Amino acid sequence: MTVSPAAVRAARRRDRRVYTRSHPLLFALLAAARRRPVTRLGRAVLVHDAAPYRHALTRIPLDRTAAGTTGGAARELSTADVLFDQEGGGHRGARRTLAEDLSAAGVERLRPVWQEALGRHLAPLAEGRDVDLVPLARELAAVGVCTLLGSAADPHAVAVAAGEAAAAAVRDHLPGPRLPGARRAAATATARLETLLSTGTDGRAGLRAMLAVAAVNTSVAALPRAAAWCADAGLWDQAADDRLRPALVTELLRVTAPSPLLPRAAAADADLGGCPVRKGDRLILVARHAVRAHLQPPDARRPAPPAVAQLVFGAGPHACPGARLARAQLEDVLAALAPHRPAVTGARVDRGAALPGWRSLTVRAAGRHESAARFEEDR
Ligand code: HEM
Repeated sequence: MTVSPAAVRAARRRDRRVYTRSHPLLFALLAAARRRPVTRLGRAVLVHDAAPYRHALTRIPLDRTAAGTTGGAARELSTADVLFDQEGGGHRGARRTLAEDLSAAGVERLRPVWQEALGRHLAPLAEGRDVDLVPLARELAAVGVCTLLGSAADPHAVAVAAGEAAAAAVRDHLPGPRLPGARRAAATATARLETLLSTGTDGRAGLRAMLAVAAVNTSVAALPRAAAWCADAGLWDQAADDRLRPALVTELLRVTAPSPLLPRAAAADADLGGCPVRKGDRLILVARHAVRAHLQPPDARRPAPPAVAQLVFGAGPHACPGARLARAQLEDVLAALAPHRPAVTGARVDRGAALPGWRSLTVRAAGRHESAARFEEDR
């Protein structure tokens, strides 16, 4: 079955709301600047194309602790070294400890835990009831991370603290005057997360907390947005097909680009696609544009080249170690939803979240949603 252009437009229209309702000015600025692959705006360099985006992450020395970057924010939140802000041997060592847990075998070991949560959350669909995919995504991400860390913490509490820590950190780093209390709120939420996840023995509470922040916020943004795209664009046939589903997962992660902006800082002078970069310049790497999310709709039969699609997980030594886990969870969510052919019955943007996403995204099985759709609330 071919993908209908009208359905794709509807899907794109809905998904754009997570940007336009949370950061309208930033979205408009980035959209206006994207015609050129690399643009300088004062000391900031905006990067919109795949090649310079990859080049910046793999070839330009980056200051991982600079204020306003992901590593700088992580360092402000925690006293420990937390991957994002690390370099060299220390960084490689920290990643090695994660590599086995997030390997293919490691992810398979985690699968039964989130499968149980998935079945429980989606059971109401068979009875014609609505299901909100945001709490589902929150639990999937949090049980995955708690199991990964061998933590007995309450997954709900972990998800809430991880969401608050990231949201407060982003509020503290947005351009413009700093909001009073944002930094304190971020530190308090992080300390709560560290206490929740601490084993009290290995001294790695900071790393554990950052792992939870990285996993929960991206997954809570990604899973409901991907499912909404699938429903609105009429992609359930592809989701139901075991051979197409992995490519559909990659495509949906590409168009949703859950971590749409990577703020970095140059640690040395360099050249980026013909634009001179000076030490100390801020690099705003726009993942959403680099993977052509705004231009090429998702289609498992005509996917974007893998080298482009995988850029939503970054590139180089700091590329996301949780990509396999994120893909496996989305694959299972789509496989479980596909037999119901659900439609979206309600969608509300989370204006305060760290990453663009839904506060609530409800779906109902096909044939059971027509009358509900008339009442759809889309604030
Ligand atoms: C759809 C879901 C996800 C997306 C889109 C995503 C995206 C990213 C991106 C763009 C980076 C920065 C890469 C770079 O600087 O080159 C990153 C780093 C990271 N991610 Fe993910 N991520 C996701 C899920 C996860 C999950 C599930 C986990 C953990 C289980 C995780 C853990 C991390 C960690 C620890 C880092 C820092 C790595 C380092 O600095 O060495 N992420 N992620």
